[in-house]
Amino acid sequence: MFQRIRYRLLLSYLVVSASLLGIFAIAVRFAFTRSLTEQITDKLIAIGKGAAANVELEKGRLTVESDFRPQDLIASHQALQWFDTQGNLITQQGKNVLTLPFLPNKIVQFQTGKIPIQAVNVPIIASDNGELVGYVRVSQSLEEFDETLQKLDWGLSGGIIITLVLSGIGGILLTHQAMQPIEESFERLKQFTADASHELRSPLMAIKINAELPLEYPEEISPKDAEKFQAIANATNQMTRLTEDLLMLARTDRVSNQNRDTLNLTSILENLIQLYKPQAEAKQINFKFQLIANLQLIGDSSHLTRLFTNLIENAIYYTRSGGVVEIKTSRIGSHLYINVQDTGMGIAPENINKVFERFWRADQSRSYWLGGSGLGLAIAQAIAQNHGGLISVMSQLGVGSCFTVRLPTS
Ligand SMILES: Nc1ncnc2c1ncn2[C@@H]1O[C@H](COP(=O)(O)OP(=O)(O)OP(=O)(O)O)[C@@H](O)[C@H]1O
Ligand SMILES: [Mg+2]
Repeated sequence: MFQRIRYRLLLSYLVVSASLLGIFAIAVRFAFTRSLTEQITDKLIAIGKGAAANVELEKGRLTVESDFRPQDLIASHQALQWFDTQGNLITQQGKNVLTLPFLPNKIVQFQTGKIPIQAVNVPIIASDNGELVGYVRVSQSLEEFDETLQKLDWGLSGGIIITLVLSGIGGILLTHQAMQPIEESFERLKQFTADASHELRSPLMAIKINAELPLEYPEEISPKDAEKFQAIANATNQMTRLTEDLLMLARTDRVSNQNRDTLNLTSILENLIQLYKPQAEAKQINFKFQLIANLQLIGDSSHLTRLFTNLIENAIYYTRSGGVVEIKTSRIGSHLYINVQDTGMGIAPENINKVFERFWRADQSRSYWLGGSGLGLAIAQAIAQNHGGLISVMSQLGVGSCFTVRLPTS
């Protein structure tokens, strides 16, 4: 149980860390991309201004000055294009030119493709009259930029993985530390329950004996007193059962392997069937069974007897007379399956998960002294789990229930 809580804690811790790191990485990448793009844009604008300064208007035609050497201005991954005011290309220089149509209103243009390119448009203003005479489009291949981003991605994801591994290790230590006091106090609580129920045994036994003693000589007491003594004896029986159940629950998790033997589950079930046959017959219940011979199992026979006693008692108790209670066994792979099926009152779907809870009973109002305490299935489940198995239940209100116990053969 604690192992599961620990795993869940660790998992939520890792999910939270991973989300935080992910948000952080996205923010870093976004900020980095933005500032890098801005930097490139600024650089391209500066180049564009230089190129714009080196054109002249000759008889209404835009020409690049003859002594201007564009190679000095641009690097190998950059390119220049000159346009007139109509957007007609006049001349170009460099390899990575943009093939997209010229858009004068757009300052920054991107071209995707095998080599991504970013371009910036700079207007050419005539120096004498301040009129717009054309545009320079400066472009640059973003290959290098992409490489830088890729490196950043690798760095970020590597960092995240390392951080997650480290925080996972830290998380294991932390959850261990956090769970220890809880586990200890749980252990103490269980020990207390076990001690208390153990200590209650003897006084309860004394009360029971003393209450039953006068009942053996009914002629010496009045019928009214006899009734009272009987009530005390009944209540004491009930309390004895309750303390036994609590003791059993407190102890089941700690059953050591020393009580474990190879045992024959078929004979355990056969004995129980013999034991409960009279009770079923008295209630006119058709008690059927279908057992595979010689089902071998390693386990604690008194505990397993208890497990199936609880299931059979419930099946008989919660089935009206005329109903059917059937016990079936099967073996699939390395597991034994034992079904205890009844045609009783059934369990409502919303309660089906509660039946294994301690002290839970569908009919809380029913007299405590009549039925049990609601520990029966909790004990059955604890025993099954202690044997490496589990109990599941399928039920339909008013139709019946089927409890299935799965136990490993080895
Ligand atoms: N075969 C069944 N059919 C219908 N309801 C059932 C069946 N078995 C259990 N239940 C429901 O589940 C509840 C819990 O069962 P559980 O055996 O744990 O307690 P209990 O029978 O009430 O008391 P105890 O077994 O301690 O004497 C029951 O009160 C009943 O409402
Ligand atoms: Mg019961």
